[in-house]
Amino acid sequence: MLAFLLVSGSIWIVLEISNTLMEKMQAQEILRSLRLPELDEFSQFFSSLPASTLVGIGALTAVIAYWLTTRPKAMKPPCDLSQQSKEVEHSDGAHRSVLGDSAKLLTHYHDDAKTMYEVFQRGLHIAGDGPCLGSRQPKQPYQWLSYKEVTTRAEYLGSGLIFQGCRPCPDQFIGVFAQNRPEWIISELACYTYSMVVVPLYDTLGPDAIRYIINTAEISTVICDKPEKAQVLLENVERQETPGLETVILMDPFDIPLVERGHKCGVHIQSIKEVEALGRTHHRVPMPPQPDDLSIVCFTSGTTGNPKGVMLTHGNVVADFSGFLKVTETHWSPISQDAHISYLTLAHMFERMVQSVVYCHGGRIGFFQGDIRLLSDDMKALRPTIFPVVPRLLNRMYDKIFSQANNPVKRWLLDFAAKRKSAEVLSGVIRSDSVWDKIFFRKIQDSLGGRVRMIVTGAAPASPTVLGFLRAALGCQVYEGYGQTECTAGCTFTTPGDWTSGHVGAPLPSNLIKLVDATDMNYFASKGEGEVCVKGPNVFKGYLKDQEKTAEALDGDGWLHTGDIGKWLPNGTLKIIDRKKHIFKLAQGEYIAPEKIENIYIRSEPVSQLYVHGDSLQSCLVGIVVPDPEVMPAWAKKKGFEASYGDLCKNKEVKKAIMEDMVRLGKASGLHSFEQVKDIYIHSEMFSIQNGLLTPTLKAKRPELREFFKEKIEQLYANISM
Ligand SMILES: *[C@@H]1O[C@H](CO)[C@@H](O)[C@H](O)[C@H]1NC(C)=O
Repeated sequence: MLAFLLVSGSIWIVLEISNTLMEKMQAQEILRSLRLPELDEFSQFFSSLPASTLVGIGALTAVIAYWLTTRPKAMKPPCDLSQQSKEVEHSDGAHRSVLGDSAKLLTHYHDDAKTMYEVFQRGLHIAGDGPCLGSRQPKQPYQWLSYKEVTTRAEYLGSGLIFQGCRPCPDQFIGVFAQNRPEWIISELACYTYSMVVVPLYDTLGPDAIRYIINTAEISTVICDKPEKAQVLLENVERQETPGLETVILMDPFDIPLVERGHKCGVHIQSIKEVEALGRTHHRVPMPPQPDDLSIVCFTSGTTGNPKGVMLTHGNVVADFSGFLKVTETHWSPISQDAHISYLTLAHMFERMVQSVVYCHGGRIGFFQGDIRLLSDDMKALRPTIFPVVPRLLNRMYDKIFSQANNPVKRWLLDFAAKRKSAEVLSGVIRSDSVWDKIFFRKIQDSLGGRVRMIVTGAAPASPTVLGFLRAALGCQVYEGYGQTECTAGCTFTTPGDWTSGHVGAPLPSNLIKLVDATDMNYFASKGEGEVCVKGPNVFKGYLKDQEKTAEALDGDGWLHTGDIGKWLPNGTLKIIDRKKHIFKLAQGEYIAPEKIENIYIRSEPVSQLYVHGDSLQSCLVGIVVPDPEVMPAWAKKKGFEASYGDLCKNKEVKKAIMEDMVRLGKASGLHSFEQVKDIYIHSEMFSIQNGLLTPTLKAKRPELREFFKEKIEQLYANISM
């Protein structure tokens, strides 16, 4: 017993010492000088072991052998990180990935998975009776449907739809109007099994857009989660605005009056179970789609006008996630033990891509309870290995960690630990078992379930500071992608091993990227700057029944024009530096890109959200700022203001302090003085999808914000000119 203790004890110690001898001593020093409780454990452990026993011959041999096999190793990047993309000859300066086949763009990764139907079948072959889709009731463990059960239910549902008149072909569109949950995926798979096309609908589109989509896609059947959503659909029918809608299928229970209301306007209301039962008795053999067949029409709500229906084929979707698999294959291969936490909307391709990767390898998907505030609880129950995030969430995590380090010493320590760990990350070592993890970061990792091995962020630019810190603190691979629905989801991605921030990685092996002149904004391709254009098997087929907008986005040679301005960095990665659309001139003729300015100001500690406003009638900018309810009060307290969040928001001095902090950051980031706000208004209610100020992908809806704050903006300008 004693020998065992000694051996394991000394293994532990020598391991720690040899891995991070310097760090440990520094940590010990620091901890000792601070009398932090962690130290007591450490020093007790040390002093409880007599020095002489440590060098027992047997123990030492074991220790060395153990250490040699477990010391942290840097993973070898898949390519030379100083050349992550290369120019394609005779192609107008288009770049391609250095990974994969140099003669052709990647269309698929697995030969047996070229459509989304086959992707799921592949998972079925691997996992069979293994868990596939999971959901949970409050405080309960996850309940799982197996791959076999999901496949069977999808066949029944699909057969039931066909029995009721849906046609098994790629111009039959089926609406799905639900929050993320297992039936969403079953409905989707039901469509794919019989070559039908899914059209996601979501609340935040608003009733006008939903009506527009149902008519444009000629949807006769919608599968929805809750009776309230059915009511929304019925209202449209009652007003004779969506005459084509015939059937609404519900996942949740509903009552008789709803059925009667449907009956009156000619809409058949039924439960998903009922349709599955029909399909069971009238079962059809699967009629799988071809790679070129349409799989999904994703309507994206622009900031103005009608939503645009992005048409994506099975081949598009497969090519895009295959690019991701190719890039990460040296560092990460998905396995059937992988678990993914599903909480980002399924109506958005980013979430769908991650899920496809999981199905393709027989992994499992756990859905959140539907309330983002319970996400951490769900994660602790699921213990996911894959965690897709949007930058907003990363920022929150970052702010939370730093606001808990609430005195200068703790903060300094945290900074110090993050620096040590970051240095390790930059040298290629990713781990979560260093001494720094044990002292500082384990709690953070545990709040995500403790098993996350990959984080992917996309949908909006991530702050380099935040990304750098979290790469260190979370001890897992953190990737950033860039793209848009029109190229399925991503077109560039972090090369594993390049854990630097401030760029969006290299082109995926499934697409080319070129930059074209944006003359009016002074960006020229000859200087390695211009509008980002994408071409490849992941680029969409056009907008549904909208020739004009399709022609604006997709040129004659098949290049998708993204509207973002990019710049090639010397090592072949792309940096997004500007936006083509949201740019305006101030009265004196200076160009302003408000999003660039917002991305700088958002790093101000008390600031949670903001909108920078200006137009060509004004000669300066103003801002609307929503302070962070969790962070701002503590921040204000340090400045000598103590009051409730609501009162602080009304306090003129607090406003002044916040603005000073923003301007300081702006200056440090090199903003010209005309790019700085001259006054701000403090608003205490968050911009949200619900109040119509954010898009479903959490981007600011600028025209709506402008309209919403019209009066405040006018007042701000009036005060400035006084
Ligand atoms: C690639 O280049 C950028 C800009 O020069 C730099 O910030 C980044 O660290 C480089 N990446 C690597 C892995 O060297």
